[in-house]
Amino acid sequence: MTPHLLRPLTLRGATARNRAWLAPMCQYSSVDGFVDDWHVVHLGARAVGGFGLVLSEAAAVVPEGRITPHDAGIWSEDHVAPWARIVRAVQAGGALAGIQLAHAGRKASTHRPWSPQRGSVHLDDGGWLTVAPSAVAFEGLAAPRELSVAEIRGVVEAFAEAARRADAAGFDVVEIHAAHGYLLHEFLSPLSNHRTDDYGGTAENRARLLREVAAAVRGAWPDRKPLLVRVSATDWVEGGLTVDDVAAASADLASLGVDLVDVSSGGNVLAQIPVAPGYQVPLAQRVREVSGLPVSAVGLLTDGPQAEQVLRGGGVDAVMVGRAALRDPHWVLRAAHELGVPDRPSAAGADGAAADVAPWPPQYARGTWG
Ligand SMILES: Cc1cc2nc3c(=O)[nH]c(=O)nc-3n(C[C@H](O)[C@H](O)[C@H](O)COP(=O)(O)O)c2cc1C
Repeated sequence: MTPHLLRPLTLRGATARNRAWLAPMCQYSSVDGFVDDWHVVHLGARAVGGFGLVLSEAAAVVPEGRITPHDAGIWSEDHVAPWARIVRAVQAGGALAGIQLAHAGRKASTHRPWSPQRGSVHLDDGGWLTVAPSAVAFEGLAAPRELSVAEIRGVVEAFAEAARRADAAGFDVVEIHAAHGYLLHEFLSPLSNHRTDDYGGTAENRARLLREVAAAVRGAWPDRKPLLVRVSATDWVEGGLTVDDVAAASADLASLGVDLVDVSSGGNVLAQIPVAPGYQVPLAQRVREVSGLPVSAVGLLTDGPQAEQVLRGGGVDAVMVGRAALRDPHWVLRAAHELGVPDRPSAAGADGAAADVAPWPPQYARGTWG
């Protein structure tokens, strides 16, 4: 029996060779938003390492939407060619190439993690004024400015333009980043959205921007290509966003042509998060149950047997792996081995059931566990 982890998954016209996907991870290594040699090596290596979908880090749809001045971006036509190079490297490794489109909102303009400085980058040091649904600061960061309705329309347009550029670069998959306390999550959560217009107040109103972005991106992104949305399914604090709010918003996304919800959590306010292996899996299951959409789970899924158990349990269609894939670019090849899958094509593999074998590239055949 082919492990669930290695079974292909088709969304619209794209088939991922398996259900182990690389989680989006910022590299904070861009100048003016341009991806470069580092990104080709980093993402290409994870494709060779067997992931079915390799998702890029958050790519800002406007310069002021970067988390740090070193973030990747896709706000200009000049960004397309360097991203196309990433797409070719990832596809050459046998994976689908995905890009995460993002706007960091009030959490933009911060120092990158390995900077000796913390918090917001000063305006004199290349920082900028941040924007958000309301002028409410994230703890420890500079206060943002409230977006006008006209500016909100501009954000929607920027996401759509970015999706069009992602298509021009050849990406197979687009993911809208609506998690981790960035702009779209800030609109969703009553803790950061105090607006009194059509974009604030009720849960339905707070989800309006996400619906508008999803609809606009779907309009700019080819019908045959899948669209994912990453959500934070809870703020993990009393009075914050709940899994039921997010599940209801996800049900609306289904009718707008979103194909899968990537379920994460937290990031909008400081909170006590009960971090443990697979701790976000129940949230993903709940979103799937209510929305009827396929979901991916992420968060401390670190080895093959554990990921397989999550998928076998049902209610989750794919898993995303983050930090474990920084430790081991060949995470999928190792996971397949742990699950007892042959490293070389088997008889079953020969008749087209390619999922029966680990996705070793032939160039690496001498390195298999045998
Ligand atoms: C270095 C690093 C950068 C990250 N950048 C992003 C990002 O760009 N977009 C995003 O949605 N999540 C980002 N995340 C979160 C991961 O995608 C993932 O959800 C999180 O690390 C939990 O999964 P894990 O336990 O497998 O690492 C980042 C995580 C790390 C460690």
